[in-house]
Amino acid sequence: MKALVIYWSGTGNTKKVAETIHNTLKNGGVNSILKRVEEALPEELFEFDLIFIGSPSHMWQPPEPVLKYIREKMDYHRRHGDIKLCAPKLFGKRGVVFVTYSGPHTGFNEALPVGKYLGQFMEHMGFDVAGEWYVVGEFHGRESESTKGRLGDIRGRPNQQDLENIIMEVNKILENNR
Ligand SMILES: Cc1cc2nc3c(=O)[nH]c(=O)nc-3n(C[C@H](O)[C@H](O)[C@H](O)COP(=O)(O)O)c2cc1C
Repeated sequence: MKALVIYWSGTGNTKKVAETIHNTLKNGGVNSILKRVEEALPEELFEFDLIFIGSPSHMWQPPEPVLKYIREKMDYHRRHGDIKLCAPKLFGKRGVVFVTYSGPHTGFNEALPVGKYLGQFMEHMGFDVAGEWYVVGEFHGRESESTKGRLGDIRGRPNQQDLENIIMEVNKILENNR
């Protein structure tokens, strides 16, 4: 099985989750490639059985480098006739999206549109969305957003427990494949 883990990260939270996913896949015997979105464009998505795409929430949407990657990939695949009406599912192709967020104002709802956006990319490509993972992350450089927001004290997150949950989720995905 071949897997691709792509992500963007400004302050390291999403990177931590991406690396955890990548390492868990490798430990499970999967041939996994880890790339930031800026360098992932040449990767041909249909060559992979499993694709993970991760992003933080910036004003409850993916930040520009993630949007740019998705726009460029969609343009390319539209030109090649891969984006089909009714988005038929490709056999054996699965995608997982992961989002890190701080939720200072409205909590989880600040992450949800990002996960849905990434999931729509996967679905338009014909990949079955096998998971939508949301991970709380400290708002680095803004203390009050990490202590007085809707989610309370989120300093140090994603923490060990958050990453262990991710390891568990990745292993569940791998088990479903056996
Ligand atoms: C410019 C900027 C805007 C952000 N806007 C939001 C937001 O609207 N909602 C939210 O929940 N978190 C927001 N955050 C917090 C990040 O989503 C959160 O800290 C995330 O885990 C950062 O991931 P990263 O370290 O991989 O960049 C914002 C962070 C930055 C730097």
